[in-house]
Amino acid sequence: MVFYPKETTLIVALSMGPSMKPVLTIRNVRKSFGPVEVLRGVDLDLVPGEVLALVGDNGAGKTTLIKHISGVYRADSGEIQLDGKSMDLLSPRQVRERGVETVYQDLALADDLTVGANIFLGREPMRRLFGVLPYIDERAIRNETASLLDRIKSHIPAKSKTVARLSGGQRQAVAIARAIYWKAKVVIMDEPTAALAVMERENVIKYARELAASGAGVIYIGHNLVEILEVADRIAVMFRGTIVHLTTAGETTQEKLIKYMTGYTDKEIAA
Ligand SMILES: Nc1ncnc2c1ncn2[C@@H]1O[C@H](COP(=O)(O)OP(=O)(O)OP(=O)(O)O)[C@@H](O)[C@H]1O
Ligand SMILES: [Mg+2]
Repeated sequence: MVFYPKETTLIVALSMGPSMKPVLTIRNVRKSFGPVEVLRGVDLDLVPGEVLALVGDNGAGKTTLIKHISGVYRADSGEIQLDGKSMDLLSPRQVRERGVETVYQDLALADDLTVGANIFLGREPMRRLFGVLPYIDERAIRNETASLLDRIKSHIPAKSKTVARLSGGQRQAVAIARAIYWKAKVVIMDEPTAALAVMERENVIKYARELAASGAGVIYIGHNLVEILEVADRIAVMFRGTIVHLTTAGETTQEKLIKYMTGYTDKEIAA
């Protein structure tokens, strides 16, 4: 797969202008846990081909928001649409089948399965013995997995290892390979580099860009603002359950972002 630099995708996204339909729209989503309102009316659009970073202090509501997208939580009110269709009643599995992959640091993979089994989990290619008895086509899984890992240039060793023995970055690569193989329309990465060494971190950033270059909309949650400014086309700042600021990466700075993250208003920041 060709790896396009960040600028290319941005120019593509911008040149398509207003005709570029969002792949995901979030409208006025509210959620309370008991008496605490954690999401207080979230609005956000994600367009194909962009990396949209979501930043905010601990407890701002980022993970809660993306769990609404992935079908884990139901909103109290408001709506989330994928390609113009409501996702409100879908289970996490149905959300995945519709092309929304979520990549977490630890949760995404089944530890005791091989890399290939993880990529194909729940969607294994089947064959029929004597044209009757269905069985899983292990050879197809092995072949596809090898070419996929080759394509994302991951240095994952012996193909049939279980993912329990892989490093954090290699686990990320497997989850990302899955998103690439199934041509995810939306990929959500919740602090994908939190536990990674510098080299692996760079790889995850590359994969995020590569997914966007292949046409997916990517939501990238993180706390490291240097990394955020490197990976993102646009940045949304969340503060106490709402999006308080939306900007392109080129138009902002770490200092500005920190101010929005800690509750400064537009007026205070302009002054
Ligand atoms: N299932 C739950 N029940 C009750 N409160 C919850 C639940 N899930 C999250 N919260 C609360 O909602 C708020 C937002 O949490 P969330 O995990 O979305 O924050 P976050 O922005 O992802 O923070 P971090 O950067 O630390 O990951 C927190 O105050 C948290 O305690
Ligand atoms: Mg979180």
